[in-house]
Amino acid sequence: MTAVKRFLRVLFERAELLFDIAFGQRLNPLAWLGAFGWYFFWIVAGTGIYLYIFFDTGLTDAYASVEYMTHDQWYLAGVMRSLHRYASDALVVIVVLHLLREFSLDRLRGKRFFAWLTGVPALFFIYLCGISGYWLVWDKLAQYVAITTTEWLDALPFFGEPLANNFLDSTTLGSRFFTLMVFIHIFASLFMLLLMWIHIQRHARAKVNLPKALAIGTAMTLIALSLIHPAISQEPANLDVVPAELGFDWFYLAAYPLLDIMPGGQLWLIIAGGMLLLAMLPWIPPAKSAPAAVVSLDNCNGCARCFDDCPFSAITMAARSDGKAYDTEAIVNVDNCMSCGLCVGSCPTATPFRRADAIVPGIELPEHPIAALREATLQASREFVKGRRVLVYACEHAGAEALADDNGRVLTMPCVAMLPPAFIDFALSRNLADGIAILGCAERDCYYRLGGNWMQQRLDSERDPYLRRRVNRARLRFWRFRIPSAGKRRKALAEFSAALHDLPKNQPTGRSRDA
Ligand code: HEM
Ligand code: SF4
Ligand code: SF4
Repeated sequence: MTAVKRFLRVLFERAELLFDIAFGQRLNPLAWLGAFGWYFFWIVAGTGIYLYIFFDTGLTDAYASVEYMTHDQWYLAGVMRSLHRYASDALVVIVVLHLLREFSLDRLRGKRFFAWLTGVPALFFIYLCGISGYWLVWDKLAQYVAITTTEWLDALPFFGEPLANNFLDSTTLGSRFFTLMVFIHIFASLFMLLLMWIHIQRHARAKVNLPKALAIGTAMTLIALSLIHPAISQEPANLDVVPAELGFDWFYLAAYPLLDIMPGGQLWLIIAGGMLLLAMLPWIPPAKSAPAAVVSLDNCNGCARCFDDCPFSAITMAARSDGKAYDTEAIVNVDNCMSCGLCVGSCPTATPFRRADAIVPGIELPEHPIAALREATLQASREFVKGRRVLVYACEHAGAEALADDNGRVLTMPCVAMLPPAFIDFALSRNLADGIAILGCAERDCYYRLGGNWMQQRLDSERDPYLRRRVNRARLRFWRFRIPSAGKRRKALAEFSAALHDLPKNQPTGRSRDA
């Protein structure tokens, strides 16, 4: 499984680099696949509501009403129909890419199973919406979909009377069955919206809105496509004639031709097995979860910064339970906590400017205590042997192994945003290093979603806790490499060391107030 993930990762990395050139890192569409899913869903829903105004849900008039929209009102309802079709197709592509990308980034195992597991039924509902949608046009393709689907459903042992009997000829088909399809189409869409909402419940600040430039660019492309190549119906359905030639939709109906070469029951088994395997992927192989963050009430002042910064909605602020003068205290939901440490980096009490035995911040990771990070910083400083002394604080997922040479000391942690900015001030003001480098994941790909952004904002004094102004920024680098190249990392470290040579020797800046 790891090999498959690695292979996919390489493919995505290559594609992402190309897209970086075309769109830039921030607008790289591959970093916005989930938000694209929401975007296309809203287009499909909005255009669907408009189409429903003109759509006649009766069996005999459905085709004519769709023809009216497509030809007589081509400039509005026709465009809406095309947008409805193309956004639905795009949704399938985007969701499959999104699924593969999240899989390649291994964002599904351990406690991260939730989004994956709720995504699997969303996939099923996308298909249910799409297939039932094709049915409603009641043209030749709809006839093929209706007959093939019902015959396929009849392979299941649930229906007493074969469903396909409804489509034997034009006299057997009743409007009731058709109206049922309309309901399935609408309710499946509503249910999908509910699933999409559940899907992101464990994500604080989930990226559900596209950046404006991507949203406008995509809308214009879809509108242009709709005008140049409008979605049209095929000939009207006629149950007395078997359609000879068919325009096909591979986005939604790709499985249907398989029914020509295997029995329906066998295809059901393959699809059910595939879905089951997909649903089980978070546990193949099972991941060991690190212990969750722990709050020390004695040191928590209820400032809620950890609550604001947690990417996985794992912290709630509750009424104070220990009688202290503060209003609230932080509480960690152990089931949601991914042990990323972003909360530790945000806590004002996580400062190294205290005696090591006195450092117990308001919140911390049992496996990465802040006192140990302080000790590791002091130890690394003692181990520098030559050249300019660069201390690297690195994310475990950022390829830091490449930098372990005698020029730089590397201290890894689950995410760079676990590092309270006070550590940078501490290391430079105490002359423990000549320069500090922070090595995080690529801007579009932070393993813990928001860590890189929070770190950047703290360094830029846009987010608490700020890096103090007295810190000489020339002695600081924040690297977020786009590719896992060891060479690039080493080169950056060598260049930084060389740049430090041009600066006057680092001097202790004196003890800060809280020292
Ligand atoms: C309509 C379909 C879907 C939509 C609209 C959608 C949307 C999203 C969004 C907005 C996020 C949050 C991204 C972020 O802020 O970091 C997300 C995350 C995720 N989605 Fe989906 N998704 C869909 C289907 C799926 C499917 C089919 C799967 C897989 C079976 C899936 C797996 C995941 C995973 C694993 C994550 C990341 C979880 C993590 O970071 O811990 N999604 N999705
Ligand atoms: S950031 Fe620290 S002090 Fe503030 S609420 Fe969270 S644990 Fe308490
Ligand atoms: S370790 Fe990460 S997931 Fe857990 S509470 Fe802290 S910020 Fe949230």
